[in-house]
Amino acid sequence: MTDARIDAVINFVREGSRVADVGADHGYLSIELIKSGRATFVTATEKNLQPLEAARKNISAAGLEKVIDTRHGDGLKILSAGEVDTICIAGMGGALITKILDESPEVVNAARQLILQPMNASEKVRTWLNENGWAVDDEDLAEAGGVIYEIISAVKISESVPKNFKRDSSPLKKKFLQQRAEKIRRVLDEMNKSSVARTSGKFYATKEKFAALQKEIDSLNGD
Ligand SMILES: C[S@@+](CC[C@H](N)C(=O)[O-])C[C@H]1O[C@@H](n2cnc3c(N)ncnc32)[C@H](O)[C@@H]1O
Repeated sequence: MTDARIDAVINFVREGSRVADVGADHGYLSIELIKSGRATFVTATEKNLQPLEAARKNISAAGLEKVIDTRHGDGLKILSAGEVDTICIAGMGGALITKILDESPEVVNAARQLILQPMNASEKVRTWLNENGWAVDDEDLAEAGGVIYEIISAVKISESVPKNFKRDSSPLKKKFLQQRAEKIRRVLDEMNKSSVARTSGKFYATKEKFAALQKEIDSLNGD
């Protein structure tokens, strides 16, 4: 089973990759990675037994046990350095994604590409990449179930080549920015109700963020 979010993750995987699917849940991403021909081998990790069992069942039903290894454990801790060249972490919060990356530096440093799809706090993920020698080499947006998701691909800074990101020409870009601006506007409205919050540094930083987003939206409108 696939959707636009999973497809967008898969589209960033280079053909012939050995991929880690961290937090594989039902195993759909792992299965589609093999079916699409992008991955030659997938190591699917899962911290919780119930989803792991579901993944094993789905992988077995697809007849892919020989090319998808399922492992029970925390993040990347159950992989050895050099076992995978691509690490996919999709459907988790930005803080958990960076924690998983931080906890397994050898595995991360031996990889060639990180494909990350944070459910929130994407700024935290971007900061982590910046601070750890990775450069965003492409980004996309995908809508599934009425939600717009961000998908980020990163390579080592030394391998990074400037190019146009998929996200910049995505038909979802304006809607995504508008939704994000609306969320920030609601935060500002709440902060405005308290004189302490209204005079805090966070309020001014949030206001600046809102203004920058609005400017980007206006530029898309040709204003
Ligand atoms: C919302 S699901 C996302 C599933 C799938 N990656 C996707 O994008 O469709 C998150 C999964 O990550 C698993 N998970 C959470 N923390 C984890 C960790 N530290 N290591 C491995 N799996 C984890 C959860 O049990 C859950 O099945």
